[in-house]
Amino acid sequence: MPTEATEKPVLAAYPPSAEFAAQANGGAELYSEADSDRDAFWAKQAARLHWHEPFNQVLDWSEAPVAKWFVGGKLNVAYNCVDRHVEAGYGDQVAIHWVGEPGDTRTLTYSDLLSLVSKTANYLSELGLQAGDRVAIYMPMIPEAIASMLACARLGLTHSVVFAGFSSSALRSRIDDAEAKLVITTDGQFRRGKPAPLKAAVDEAIGGDTPAPSVEHVLVVRRTGEDTPWQAGRDLWWHETVEKASSEHTAEAFDSEHPLFLLYTSGTTGKPKGILHTSGGYLTQASYTHHYVFDHKPGEDVYWCTADIGWVTGHSYIVYGPLSNRTTQVVYEGTPNSPNEHRHFEIIENHGVTIYYTAPTLIRTFMKWGREIPDAHNLSSLRLLGTVGEPINPEAWRWYHSVLGGGRCPIVDTWWQTETGAIMISPLPGVTECKPGSAMAPLPGISMQIVDDEAHPVARGATEANGYLVIDQPWPAMLRGIWGDMQRFKDTYWSRFAEQGYYFAGDGAKFDEDGAVWVLGRVDDVMNISGHRISTAEVESALVGHDAVAESAVIGATDATTGQAIVAFVILRQGVVNTGDELVADLRATVSRDIGPIAKPRDIYIVPELPKTRSGKIMRRLLRDVAEGRQLGDTSTLVDPGVVESLRGGK
Ligand code: WTA
Repeated sequence: MPTEATEKPVLAAYPPSAEFAAQANGGAELYSEADSDRDAFWAKQAARLHWHEPFNQVLDWSEAPVAKWFVGGKLNVAYNCVDRHVEAGYGDQVAIHWVGEPGDTRTLTYSDLLSLVSKTANYLSELGLQAGDRVAIYMPMIPEAIASMLACARLGLTHSVVFAGFSSSALRSRIDDAEAKLVITTDGQFRRGKPAPLKAAVDEAIGGDTPAPSVEHVLVVRRTGEDTPWQAGRDLWWHETVEKASSEHTAEAFDSEHPLFLLYTSGTTGKPKGILHTSGGYLTQASYTHHYVFDHKPGEDVYWCTADIGWVTGHSYIVYGPLSNRTTQVVYEGTPNSPNEHRHFEIIENHGVTIYYTAPTLIRTFMKWGREIPDAHNLSSLRLLGTVGEPINPEAWRWYHSVLGGGRCPIVDTWWQTETGAIMISPLPGVTECKPGSAMAPLPGISMQIVDDEAHPVARGATEANGYLVIDQPWPAMLRGIWGDMQRFKDTYWSRFAEQGYYFAGDGAKFDEDGAVWVLGRVDDVMNISGHRISTAEVESALVGHDAVAESAVIGATDATTGQAIVAFVILRQGVVNTGDELVADLRATVSRDIGPIAKPRDIYIVPELPKTRSGKIMRRLLRDVAEGRQLGDTSTLVDPGVVESLRGGK
């Protein structure tokens, strides 16, 4: 089957247009500036913020791996995100164009946001909460969720946002681990056009026979208007409390290293890790990266990051980075196919979105739905596109570039982690000649290496040896620990290359001949076939490069002869006829052509769906179980447990 890709001229690299480069926030000089004096460079980025008291030392690394950045400095994170813009005369600028899933909308200016954050802060103080206390936020994507985060930041309370798609037991373990005194939630949330209860999950989590010992109150925003169980004394309606509080509040300054938030992320063991971020360094890097990577122009751009605040992308690129830069942004409550697949494109068109930041998995979903959907909309306002969360396969990159970006928008493929707090590796959109699928280079101020098992740097262009991505210099937004478990913090991130003092990111990566960084996915996703290392991402990318394929997931299954064997699960694009063995043979040939015969999957299963977590990550562990005919492990974080049955059917 001839592939479309072979018929079209395929560009190897995509430089920014001269027009884009000429107006870009960041030029090549940023790299040399950072190289010549890293500390001075970061001090300059920190100066983009307002400091109530200046810092007297950029970095104190004497207690490595726990860094102190901007030592002695004092700031208020919320003041930086809201008040200072109002004081500078931008109170009437729209901060948030909010779009509810049922179609309701709200517009909040920076003055409106200041008033909402101040009221919330006043009421949280009235409840007796004090700097250092923890607050759990379990809310859908509504403005009050953002205001709650900012109110915590304003008071020096440490927020722990728990994704509203998580179960009550996941919420409970996070509340207990952080010993949260307050939970902020809503009566319910809209999901795929229907109201669903949310407060009920909080009740289930913290009430019952074994109430959560730390929780004093539950503050509830009315969102869906459904009946909600109520525990008098403990439960408080937002509209009866926060909304009646004073909108005057003076922000107090906190130490640069004051804890800002905890965000739980899964590790290799079952217990989620509470990743701790602090104030000055985190905000500096979130703000810096948002400004340069997205080339954001305050007052001109309309920015939209499609993440949920339950993930780190929502923290850094909906709340702290954008608001610190006086962004006008779209915040959307719902799913991309509610009420239909046009939703995102309608929002882009209606709001004139200029910067759009999303995940590769959504781009592949758009591909599956077909280009006629975006083509039905005027997307000409877009001028920059971004991706995050997983390697983007070149085919999806090119589709994103041509179909959404009209061939004119630079794409920033941003590599980072909950732990890194902000973007680390990414093109600079006005400078970098991008290669589809590569995150390209560490940002100015960031230093990383790719090393082998013995910590030796892996040569550029080495084909056999993929290496480990390590970060060899501290960075401002780095995690400061795992809540309540500093030993685990050291073991997980700093023990693998303890002698060298490298941060071990857990990702495999390689440099190509030109020195571009290719992140190959988690090292536990790297397969070893007859002693050859092959990334699941590489094979997936090859498969998705085939015309018939919308999405694929590849795992290494145990094989008596070769150690591991490649097993692929594939979803076909809409309208493609499954010709069975013929198609499978063609797919195997494609992989063989793209990477080499060694990468040819042993088995390819055509399936209707892939098992995904609520954050959109493919659950490879389940696929491995299916491929190896094992009893399935824990399926509780699956969006749709029925998928597993359909996988077995596909086999
Ligand atoms: C993966 C999300 C390739 C990577 C911000 C990392 C990526 C993990 C990219 C962190 C990218 C994120 N290219 N892989 N551009 N961005 N990853 O903590 O494996 O949810 O270690 O943070 O996502 O996921 P997390």
